[in-house]
Amino acid sequence: MSLMIAKLSSLMAAEGFFFAREGGLDVIQTYVFWNAHEPSPGNYYFEDRYDLVRFIKVVQQAGLYVHLRIGPYICAEWNFGGFPVWLKYVPDIVFRTDNEPFKVAMQGFTEKIVNMMKAEKLFETQGGPIIMSQIENEFGPVEWEIGDPGKVYTKWAAQMAVGLNTSVPWIMCKQDDAPDPVINTCNGFYCENFSPNAKYKPKMWTENWTGWFTEFGAAVPTRPAEDIAFSVARFIQNGGSFVNYYMYHGGTNFGRTAGGPFIATSYDYDAPIDEYGQLREPKWGHLRDLHRAIKLCEPALVSADPTVTSLGSNQEAHVFSSSSGECAAFLANYDTNYSVNVTFGSAQYELPRWSISILPDCKTAVFNTARLGAQSSEKQMVLVNAAFSWQSYNEERPSADDQNVTVHDGLWEQIFITRDASDYLWYMTDVNIDPSEAFLKTGLDPLLTIWSAGHALHVFINGELAGTVYGALENPKLTFSNNVKLIPGVNKISLLSVAVGLPNVGTHFETWNAGVLGPVTLKGLNEGTRDISKQKWSYKIGLKGEALNLYTVSGSSSVEWAEGSMLAKKQPLTWYKTTFDAPEGDEPPGGNAVLDYEPVVLDMSSMGKGQEWINGQSIGRHWPGYIARGECGACDYAGTYTDKKCRTNCGQPSQRWYHVPRSWLKPSGNFLVVFEEWGGDPNGIALAKRITTSVCADIFEGQPTMKKRGMLTSGRINRPKAHLWCPPGQKISKIIFASYGMPEGSCGNFREGSCHAHKSYAAFQKNCIGRQWCSVTVAPKVFGGDPCPGSVKKLSVEAAYS
Ligand code: GAL
Repeated sequence: MSLMIAKLSSLMAAEGFFFAREGGLDVIQTYVFWNAHEPSPGNYYFEDRYDLVRFIKVVQQAGLYVHLRIGPYICAEWNFGGFPVWLKYVPDIVFRTDNEPFKVAMQGFTEKIVNMMKAEKLFETQGGPIIMSQIENEFGPVEWEIGDPGKVYTKWAAQMAVGLNTSVPWIMCKQDDAPDPVINTCNGFYCENFSPNAKYKPKMWTENWTGWFTEFGAAVPTRPAEDIAFSVARFIQNGGSFVNYYMYHGGTNFGRTAGGPFIATSYDYDAPIDEYGQLREPKWGHLRDLHRAIKLCEPALVSADPTVTSLGSNQEAHVFSSSSGECAAFLANYDTNYSVNVTFGSAQYELPRWSISILPDCKTAVFNTARLGAQSSEKQMVLVNAAFSWQSYNEERPSADDQNVTVHDGLWEQIFITRDASDYLWYMTDVNIDPSEAFLKTGLDPLLTIWSAGHALHVFINGELAGTVYGALENPKLTFSNNVKLIPGVNKISLLSVAVGLPNVGTHFETWNAGVLGPVTLKGLNEGTRDISKQKWSYKIGLKGEALNLYTVSGSSSVEWAEGSMLAKKQPLTWYKTTFDAPEGDEPPGGNAVLDYEPVVLDMSSMGKGQEWINGQSIGRHWPGYIARGECGACDYAGTYTDKKCRTNCGQPSQRWYHVPRSWLKPSGNFLVVFEEWGGDPNGIALAKRITTSVCADIFEGQPTMKKRGMLTSGRINRPKAHLWCPPGQKISKIIFASYGMPEGSCGNFREGSCHAHKSYAAFQKNCIGRQWCSVTVAPKVFGGDPCPGSVKKLSVEAAYS
């Protein structure tokens, strides 16, 4: 088992490794972020959050291995897929194909990383933790599109990598023709039918997507734990070996690191460890139990190939039986509608729909992928400070005579001008309106139409906002088309074009444009339509506030800020600043880490779009004004998962909460700066803590159980226990809900179902109130008798603590 982990602060990473190990993982997988490590050619950066060597050493200290995905193309919803923007401007370069300038640059960076790892003795053969490295990333589909040069490039990339003599294997993911000895691997929601391109290569899964990324403007994807567990069990029963979760630990695209365009700041991914470093239950615990079950099968899995037999029209047994007597079985029910009783060996097994039971001794079902047995907890964002004292500063609109303004004929591509030094580029031009224009008398204002390659645009006419338009991930392009007020004489047209992350995926994404490429036309003049695309335009990169470093304490003192009744509200292009004390609470976690830890977030729901900083650190782009479209229906775990299934948040901001790492906070006097493009109400901005408010257990009777050290504790009929525990120093104070029978819902919103044992509450009240932890056996007699004989029952309980 392995995990993908990135986009984290190092403290969080260390905690993440601890939970990874506890969760039954052995390997940490990470990408290497070229654009972070080589911000300008030959100028390297490996400090702070980009201290790759330290990261790998911390993994080793935690007793884990590393799979280093060097790329250096990494996709990852990361800006420009990991490529430095300067790379695009190397003469004659074409990315990811048989192109000399590209190959030279790619080899240079790959060598740099490999040499660094060797110098630090980090490869496994040197005593380090790195057991495997990746070159390129999902190049197969691109090769298929571009043909021969792609094939030549694949061979070159493999040879180049192998030539670096790392002494551990190289892999290429989604690359069916990976040349020997490079191993091709699978990425996807399911990989059971994947087979590597040679018999002597292991069947490996480099990305099992535990959820999916969020884009601004779209609903938030989730993936049920039952389906992830099912996909893993299915892969293993079909002879799979290495499984990596992408992502196991969600993260945050701080600063302007999000790719795109339109990738959200949160990269939570519905991962087993969430964006804030908290365990996402029951997902994390369910996968931990799955890993234990699979590891109990290890002796049989490594010594035999599976024999597959049918157990019914849609059911199979996969049995690993070795000559030395090892035996493990996986009993699978692929039916999405019906649970089925199957006979295997001399016993009967109930297989819930779309599930696999794991029998490490070919007799005892210790785990079923559809039966969640883990404790979970209800977390809420609890406001801690909603009364900031704000000051505002209106970003000045630039004029063509400002410093650092360049003038060009016609419309130029945005990234060519900005080199991505800022999201923002001003396009400015003058339009002369003759006093004889008819519209001045008729009042029929001319129609201004602007075609832009994206991603967002604010249009100002003579300093006044005339409108805002923006694209979306599936189509970043946009058109502004409005009647605008023009006066006789010179009119100033200023377009603030905004990039929202550079593309990270797609064939030759380096050629995709951003910004106002035109045409820009004015219709309804005496002459008919005037095309103003080709006239002189002035260009100004970035905001004045960015140039003045308004997000630092010293930079902010260079301008006058308004406050009190003068505070700007609902005005576009406004800077806000305030100071605040850190909320009480822990990071990194202490005590019972799972429940103690209280991450801090900003509620930005009163704002539109922009960026914010705390103590000079950018916590990312905010865009709560972009409301999630799409469908959010009921979520059934059964059936083939796609990222369109099980979405949440429809009709609400795609991202309302923004993660503030506690490691960036001081106890008091923290400096918070917000830049708002659209206009918002800063008084609605609030700090909140993500707090565990109650704990739950939700468990089926007949739930297979097992002990940690590999002992099988249960027969086919077993009596699981519901465990509840709360942080040290706290006691269970109230049973919010308890039902043995057929309860429905999930932690936080359980409700009684068609059958309910009348002593459900009493059993927990007696055993749990006043205790830090308690366990209650899930059996009819504990709850006053069987409330519905003959039906499979479950127990759901939710308890508050204080
Ligand atoms: C994969 C890619 C990852 C990531 C993922 C989607 O295809 O290799 O880097 O982009 O898709 O989250």
